[in-house]
Formats: sequence, structure tokens, C-alpha cells
Amino acid sequence: MSQFLSSFTPRPPDPLLGISAAYKADPRTEKVDLGVGIYKDAAGNTPVLGAVKAAEALILERQTSKAYEGPRGNVGFCAAIEKQVFGAQSEAVSEGRVASFTAPGGCGAIFLAMSLAARVSPEGRVWISTPSWPNHVNVAAAAGREALGYPYADLAAGTVAFEEMMDALRQARPGDIVIFQGPCHNPTGVDLSAEQWAYLGDFCARQMLFPLVDVAYQGFGEGLDEDIAGVRAFLAACPEAMIAYSCSKNFGLYRERTGCFLLQAGSAAAAGAASSHVAEIARAVYSMPPAHGAAIVETILTDDALTAQWKTELEEMRQRMVALRTGLANALNGALKTDAFAPLAGLNGMFSMLPLQGPVTDMLRMQFGIYMPGSGRINIAGLPEEGLDQLAAQMAPFMAHSQATAEG
Ligand code: LMR
Repeated sequence: MSQFLSSFTPRPPDPLLGISAAYKADPRTEKVDLGVGIYKDAAGNTPVLGAVKAAEALILERQTSKAYEGPRGNVGFCAAIEKQVFGAQSEAVSEGRVASFTAPGGCGAIFLAMSLAARVSPEGRVWISTPSWPNHVNVAAAAGREALGYPYADLAAGTVAFEEMMDALRQARPGDIVIFQGPCHNPTGVDLSAEQWAYLGDFCARQMLFPLVDVAYQGFGEGLDEDIAGVRAFLAACPEAMIAYSCSKNFGLYRERTGCFLLQAGSAAAAGAASSHVAEIARAVYSMPPAHGAAIVETILTDDALTAQWKTELEEMRQRMVALRTGLANALNGALKTDAFAPLAGLNGMFSMLPLQGPVTDMLRMQFGIYMPGSGRINIAGLPEEGLDQLAAQMAPFMAHSQATAEG
């Protein structure tokens, strides 16, 4: 009998992960991968950071057991991430109002957040910026949540469309989850100011919304401390909040699935009770989190020399992306004889959107081996350092075409 598995029809490939597979399968040597968000160096490689290698050597030497670590995973890692997010002198942490769990990547942390919220607010919907990381909607659906969009960015100006965003969020009902992205918004690179963060924190508290702050790129924007200042202002204004923290990008630990789920509650008792639910949710899905990546981050962040080495390497990655971003903005301005791309140079992090949508991205792929999603998002770190003028010249006619199609 074959009535179960034979009843499936195939699902389309993931819009981002499908690009990597297609890029790898392309036999051309002249090709550019601007798809999945992984950092690449000038040679196009995604190397293991030196601080990570050094930490792994220490772990190999020191580790004496592979026994389970328990529901929170690596508690030293959790404490280190609490410090990254809340700062070294946090009242919320010292009062026991913060709880944290090692999670299988930032994505696993987002799943914990959505599932926890579902327990207290079964009718709660999830508000997600438009555009956003496409997987936010998938995770919301996996946790049985209805997803709604709020406008986020004025792409031409390179600013947050704050009024439009607030107009939409005023429609949110008490108990709804709102996902805000921390530094380096994926996919736009447009970030909230510290004042906007504080305003949103106060707004969520007053409207009884349940916020989830997704921090996946700390250190890729303006620097480690600068990048988290807005999130801290938000947390100071909003007593109840959830945070999903990813170490995939800033520690280069992608495949190790290293993330942290944190919650801030109004009291230590509330944090403790909510924690017992998080542990129960995690137990049912993956039982306990993976250990290796968390051990690496703990080792780095509890060793002054390794922390300094990591910060230097992180700063190198950040500066390379800033230079590539500026170079692309200049090259596009030059190719299109415009200054319309000036705002692109001032945006943050790994991603930005180009005015290249849908079919024109397929044409770029076919003609020049330029791989990017149909949304027009590009991975800045994938840009060719020496070939920005050529890339801009290849993209320019398609941008004019995209613009004409959009206008009419
Ligand atoms: C991306 O947005 O490309 C990355 O965050 C990788 C992923 O998992 O989608």
C-alpha cells in the first residue's frame, strides 16, 4: 500500500536556499552569488574565524563529556548573550527578570518565541515588516500563527517609513506579536533610530502587544555597542519582550546552529514560570539544543584575548561590507548617471534591495551568471570587489526596465 507518501506533490524550493543550489550547479566560471546571507571574503570564501578556531582547540582539549547539558543548553553561553543584549550592568538581569535558552540558531529562537506567545495569546497574530526575511512567515505558520504585514522602509530615501509603519501597527490587537528586527534589517538594510526604538517599546507596552526582537547581525552595522543601543532603549521601555539572538553571522557559525532565546518579564517569578513553558516547548521539538557552537561563543566571550580577536575579525567583516556597499552605490550612480543610489551607501549590514524584481533577476542569471532572489535583495558580502563597475553596467539596463515595468 502506498497511500501516504505517494499523496505528496513537491513543494517549490526555498526562495533563498534554492539560489545556492542553482549557483553551485552553474558551470560558468564568471558568476556572482548575491543570494543567501553568508559573509564572504575577497576570494569568495566563508572562512572559519581565527577566534573560533582557537576556541575549538581549547574545547577539544578541555571538554571531558558529551552528556546532556539540560534544557537551557550552555548556561555560560546564555549569560554571555544576556550581556551582549542587555549590557553588563542590566537591572533586568540582576533582578532575575531575564531568562535565556540556548537555541538551534536564531530561527530556533524565533520558533520558541512564537510558540511561547501562542500559549498565552492563542488568537494572537504575528506582525512582520514588509519586506522581511522570508522565513519569518514560515516560522509563524509552523507555530500556527496568522501573519500580517506592516510597511517598513522607504527604499528610495533609505529611511524607515515610520508614519506608515505606525498607521499599520495601530491596527494590532492586544496579544498580537510584533517582530522587529534589530540592527541591519534583512532585506532592506534600513534601521530604526534609537528614538524610534524607544517610542516602539512604549507603544508595545501601552497597546499590550507582545514584541519579538530578532537580533541576527549585531556588529555588522555600525559596531557592536552602537548596533544594540536601540534594542536596549526598546527593552527599557517595554517590560515584557522576547529576543531571538543569532550567532550565525557575527561569529560565522552558520552550520553550527547557534542562537539564544531570551525573554524579559515584569518580575523574576514571571520569568521563571515562562521559562518552564519554554523548556517544555523545546523538549517536544528538539529536546535539548546543540552544544558545539554555544561552547565556542562561551569560550570566546569569557576569554579577554579571544574576545579581542573576535572583535577585530568582526570589525574587518563590517568594514569590508561598508566598502563594498559604498563601491556599489558609486558604481550604480556612475552607470545610470544619477545620484539615486547615494542612500544605499548609508544603509547597514549585509543586505539591501535593488530595483530589480522578478523576471529581470532571471535574465541577469541567464545572461551574466548573477544570482539573486526575485525580491531584488542582494548579499553585500557577495559583491565582487574588483568587478563592481562591470556588475553595475550589467545591472543598469535591467534597472531601467524594472522601473518602467513598475511605473506602468
Ligand atoms: C538569509 O537571509 O539569506 C540568511 O539569513 C540565511 C537564511 O537562513 O535564510
